[in-house]
Amino acid sequence: MNIKTAPGVFDILPLPPAKDSWRTSSLWQWVEEKIRHQTRLFGYHEIRTPLIEQASLFTRSVGQTSDIVSKEMYLFEDKGGRTLALRPEGTAPVVRAIIEHSLHLQPFSQKLFYLSPMFRYERAQAGRYRQHHQFGVEAIGKAVPEQDAEVISLLMSCLAQIGLQGCQLKINSLGDTAARTRYRQLLLDHFESNQEQLSEDSKKRLIQNPLRILDSKEPCDQPLIETAPKLLDQIDEEQRCYFERVLKLLELLEIPYTIDKRLVRGLDYYTGVVFEVTSSLLGAQNSLGGGGRYDGLIKELGGPQLPAVGFGAGLERIIQSLIAQKQLQPTTSSITAYLIALGEEAARSAFQLLQKLRQADIACEMAFGMSKLNKMLEQANKLQARYCLIIGEEELNRSCCQLKEMQSGESKMIPLCDVVDILTRNK
Ligand code: HAM
Repeated sequence: MNIKTAPGVFDILPLPPAKDSWRTSSLWQWVEEKIRHQTRLFGYHEIRTPLIEQASLFTRSVGQTSDIVSKEMYLFEDKGGRTLALRPEGTAPVVRAIIEHSLHLQPFSQKLFYLSPMFRYERAQAGRYRQHHQFGVEAIGKAVPEQDAEVISLLMSCLAQIGLQGCQLKINSLGDTAARTRYRQLLLDHFESNQEQLSEDSKKRLIQNPLRILDSKEPCDQPLIETAPKLLDQIDEEQRCYFERVLKLLELLEIPYTIDKRLVRGLDYYTGVVFEVTSSLLGAQNSLGGGGRYDGLIKELGGPQLPAVGFGAGLERIIQSLIAQKQLQPTTSSITAYLIALGEEAARSAFQLLQKLRQADIACEMAFGMSKLNKMLEQANKLQARYCLIIGEEELNRSCCQLKEMQSGESKMIPLCDVVDILTRNK
């Protein structure tokens, strides 16, 4: 039997091959802990939604013509004949949960975050996976520039706390529905008159959703995209004023940004401010995270008229950027003590001590099923234990054990009843 991971997915391991060090589980835990800490500081609460949802949730929110829905969704029919999808993104499920449980009426439920796997059947390549992990936040109920700025500032704080350099924030405003309708017509006029120069994909997009042409990476589309009218030039006074207030708040927080008039994002639900953070350390897939305002989505999915803003950021790309800049933070989760017992009776005593140490919050392990002292000491070194606790026949008779400090090699006999105290002081 030679069964391997499916294409585009990967294992996160305690010690992956050196070339894949971004898949080290302790590194993921460290990054996730930094993120959780920041979300606590900003007052966001965790939400966990199921991996599977009704497929129509994404068709109606992300948009039928988006790449995510038209090409990339993992769809299946369950035994009850329902069409379900593996979640490709986190915003629609959160909105579904808000409506289903009236979360907007409850305390602690208007500012939500998630750390969850997402599934997209994409062409697998570096930085693009069929299962990726997103850290995302959704802030519900407030259409004020402070809320947009707070969401952006949370993303930037997380990246800064993780230690990432070379992050660039790009920001734009998509305006309201009227501005986008006007803009759609302008784009149609622009692209239709030069249709023959467009790539096949963009020709299709012209009929389905011309805004999406602006996302194209095809070289032949670039000259026409360059000269296309800009949405930011079409938005009305009120939207412009809102956008400028968000920018002023970012300046107040000393968060550098560039206005990118071509930034449209690939999901249909956005309205108003949109943003993306890229890394100069990544290749073609350089978007670390992105998001924006989606003031119409909750109503669109059958809920009350509630404004909202959020973002999603890819953990794979964040961790890969960290590796690329070679500024890894210490991530080893070594143990304090490794227990070695010589003989059956000593093993019983050591097993009891193991439990006492763990109850006292001391990370420790015991050499199970081993009898050779040098092999057990070798194992303690591999596990980077600070101490070995060795119990043999003589120690047992004296109700003691040997405490060996692994780095210095120094050993001393200590009473068994003092072990917890001594190690608590020297963890
Ligand atoms: P998105 O731009 O589709 O937005 O994804 C957010 C981030 O997830 C991307 O910037 C990227 O870092 C990561 N990502 C996406 N697809 C992949 C992939 N195939 N492999 C690796 N990483 C990937 C959303 O999903 C929106 N729900 C964000 C949002 C939340 N907007 C408002 N609230």
